[in-house]
Amino acid sequence: MIKTYISHVVDLVLLLCFVNFATSRRYPEEGYFSGNYFDNQQYAKINAGLGKLEHLPKLVTDWPDPAVEMGQVSGVSIDNAGRVFIFHRGKNVWDSRTFSDRNVYQSIGEPPIPHSTILVFNETGELVDMWGENLFYMPHGITVDAAGNVWVTDVALHQVFKFTPDQREKPVITLGEKFVPGNDDKHFCKPSAVAVHSSGDFFVSDGYCNTRIIKYAADGTKILQWGRQSGQTPFTFDIPHALTIAEDQNAVCTADRERGRVACFRADNGTYIHSYSHWLIGPRIFSVAYSPIQGGRLYLVNGPSMGIPVRGYVIEYTSGRLIQTFAPGSAFHNPHDIAVTPDGSTVYVVELNPFKAYKFVDDGLKGNLQVEMKPNGTLHTKPTATIEASGVALAGEGVLEGWGGAAGGALGAGGSGACGARSAGASKRTKSRKSGCELLKNAGRKGVSLRRWEYGHGEFKLRRLLDRRRFQRVHSDDSDEEPAPMLPPPAATA
Ligand SMILES: *[C@@H]1O[C@H](CO)[C@@H](O)[C@H](O)[C@H]1NC(C)=O
Ligand SMILES: *[C@@H]1O[C@H](CO)[C@@H](O)[C@H](O)[C@H]1NC(C)=O
Ligand SMILES: *[C@@H]1O[C@H](CO)[C@@H](O)[C@H](O)[C@H]1NC(C)=O
Repeated sequence: MIKTYISHVVDLVLLLCFVNFATSRRYPEEGYFSGNYFDNQQYAKINAGLGKLEHLPKLVTDWPDPAVEMGQVSGVSIDNAGRVFIFHRGKNVWDSRTFSDRNVYQSIGEPPIPHSTILVFNETGELVDMWGENLFYMPHGITVDAAGNVWVTDVALHQVFKFTPDQREKPVITLGEKFVPGNDDKHFCKPSAVAVHSSGDFFVSDGYCNTRIIKYAADGTKILQWGRQSGQTPFTFDIPHALTIAEDQNAVCTADRERGRVACFRADNGTYIHSYSHWLIGPRIFSVAYSPIQGGRLYLVNGPSMGIPVRGYVIEYTSGRLIQTFAPGSAFHNPHDIAVTPDGSTVYVVELNPFKAYKFVDDGLKGNLQVEMKPNGTLHTKPTATIEASGVALAGEGVLEGWGGAAGGALGAGGSGACGARSAGASKRTKSRKSGCELLKNAGRKGVSLRRWEYGHGEFKLRRLLDRRRFQRVHSDDSDEEPAPMLPPPAATA
């Protein structure tokens, strides 16, 4: 009797796993697949790959003040004075019930988050300011510009806001219509982030259910947009999730999350420059930040997928070399955003789960504010990350194709569900879930549409892809014992 019951429960768990697995085409915000995909040999390669990198910057353990409570931490930014702005969700959590299948927030009648969603810490980790109560529902991105204005996005509101330093109750700029998703000039769909140029122009990445980057003049007038939902162009996005501006390179770069790449475009006119991906980093990149030091560096965090180590990585902008990796202990769990000081010495990372913020420091760079001019075009070092570069100006093709909301959004956010759960749950339950997922995973691995990262055939696919796109081939100085570079999934959008 009890046995039968248990077996039913196991069946149910298996079924749930399967349903979750089969339907979660649009990726949840948290790890959807945190099981281990690799065999020991592949792990050995990954560890060897990580071992070759410098392990910098180093974790600072006593930052921030542990007495300060926060919820899911979705955004981090640094102001001119080195103060750290953290955007968190208080008691609200983005899960499978948060949005309808048409991307409409499901708790519209409820009051906004009553807590101070914006926490300001100084370099030593003391809470020096807090605000942002009764304004937001599902905080996402935060950016402090050079003048101290604070820009935020709220995915439940489908809006983007600008606050000046002396007016925090009411934004001076509001873009998008409250709670109404869309993809025209007046609407966003779960906009993810803002980046502000020193000229005052700013960029919005939009977002979870649209696939575009929009450039605005300082007053909020739209200047241009690019991005497309399907195809295999450099303009095809699958959740442009974060933005950073490399002013000395005239570039705006996005973490194109589910294509596992950082893609950079000319900040003036949106022309594609190049993008970065690497087999060590894997198929999901959550956020990216830029520092102009030493010719320019990109700092990024990847996301949980197939057991790939979730860490911070540093790539040289010009050469494409992957040079450093960092994490608290051996790995992060669900890092969501990253910020770096202009001198590259200090990096902050925030996590959705656990609710945490981390500080990392590279003392060797501290106070070294000299910005070297970039070499004129010639690469002096060989890349380790795959750089795809296009000489062709394709921005004209960056046409948005249709309204992605219904197409993509269906099972949208949340649902880190049965298979992905790494959670705090009772270990017994987790165990049976795990074994259920294990089975599916193995089935999926042999089968068709699990994930399209294929280690052994990567090189072959790379060639074909490069031929097809007529990209310039960039040589890799990976040694032979390392697997071929990973590529963004050929067709991430279904
Ligand atoms: C941070 O704030 C605390 C409390 O106001 C202060 O004692 C400390 O000196 C500050 N640290 C820095 C680096 O400003
Ligand atoms: C850089 O550009 C300058 C001016 O165009 C040129 O004289 C110089 O030779 C270039 N340097 C390299 C390394 O190409
Ligand atoms: C952007 O500017 C560059 C340099 O002037 C030019 O080569 C490129 O064609 C421009 N792209 C577009 C889409 O106008």
